[in-house]
Amino acid sequence: MTRHFLRDDDLSQAEQSAILDIADQMKADRWGTKPLAGPQSVAVIFDKSSTRTRVSFHVGISDLGGSPLIISTANSQLGGKETPSDTARVLERMVSAIVWRTYGQAGLEEMAADTTVPVVNALSDDFHPCQLLADLLTIREHRGTLAGQTVAFIGDGASNMAQSYLLAGATAGMHVRVAAPAEFSPSPQVVTDAEHRSAETGGSVLVVTDPVAAVAGADVVVTDTWVSMGKESEKQSRLDTFSGYRVDDALMAHAADDAVFMHCLPADRGYEVTAEVIDGPRSIIWDEAENRLHAQKALLAWLLAANGANGANGANGANGANSANAANAATAAATA
Ligand code: CP
Ligand code: NVA
Repeated sequence: MTRHFLRDDDLSQAEQSAILDIADQMKADRWGTKPLAGPQSVAVIFDKSSTRTRVSFHVGISDLGGSPLIISTANSQLGGKETPSDTARVLERMVSAIVWRTYGQAGLEEMAADTTVPVVNALSDDFHPCQLLADLLTIREHRGTLAGQTVAFIGDGASNMAQSYLLAGATAGMHVRVAAPAEFSPSPQVVTDAEHRSAETGGSVLVVTDPVAAVAGADVVVTDTWVSMGKESEKQSRLDTFSGYRVDDALMAHAADDAVFMHCLPADRGYEVTAEVIDGPRSIIWDEAENRLHAQKALLAWLLAANGANGANGANGANGANSANAANAATAAATA
């Protein structure tokens, strides 16, 4: 079975930790491993806008010795004349992995079900797992550890970021709290999945409507836009509904004295966060943005190695030929 990365809990706690270790190594020695040498190509497809994800995958694939192929669905057949399945079956003959930013999670699942190359979710309406790898890498850098840390997400609990925090944080053994208006609660299924994962890792999950209850004593405070991509028509009502969920100095005062602030960006200063917080001394948003590069490079190297190691891509010449290279590079990076 080909390993994909469609949601945060596709990785076990040990696998997530191993990828973060590879990311640390790659950050320390940026051009030291070339698992995509050949170059192998990676398709990176965008149904939605992007700055960080586009640049970090393009640069990261290049750093790994590969060739990035950045595709906008607006000028491809995907989404119009062609299904995710047919697109994947064509791409797998030519590329080593497919990275896709899209709307529904179902399209990603369809694509993954019908291809032998790894599929990576570069943001869907439901999850943003690549961002969470970068966030966890950043938290680990600043806090020294992940397990036992308390993270509070404030705002749209049904958003991709909140739901990814639940799954990724639970996987890491963190205590994840989400404060959101009741009508913007996370999916009950995602909460259940996070609770099950927490039971294995020693983490915990708490969903509340009171931002102060969520932030009290927290080590990490996180927010995100109140108007995610695809929700623009709801903008005014969302601004009204979320007005009590702004992260400002008064809210941060309830967090631990050494708490840090994070935001995946882009940010709307004055709405979900004040300028004094996001541009203040507790904010670690620029490290977080940079870590997209290192975390995604590690993810790609790990996925190629995992799939090469179990022979999933053995029938595919392009991937089979280079899987040993990827495995060696990922292993070398992890053990260096
Ligand atoms: N954080 C993030 O995914 O940013 P972009 O939308 O710019 O890729
Ligand atoms: N929740 C935001 C994240 C942007 C990176 C969105 O989906 O628009």
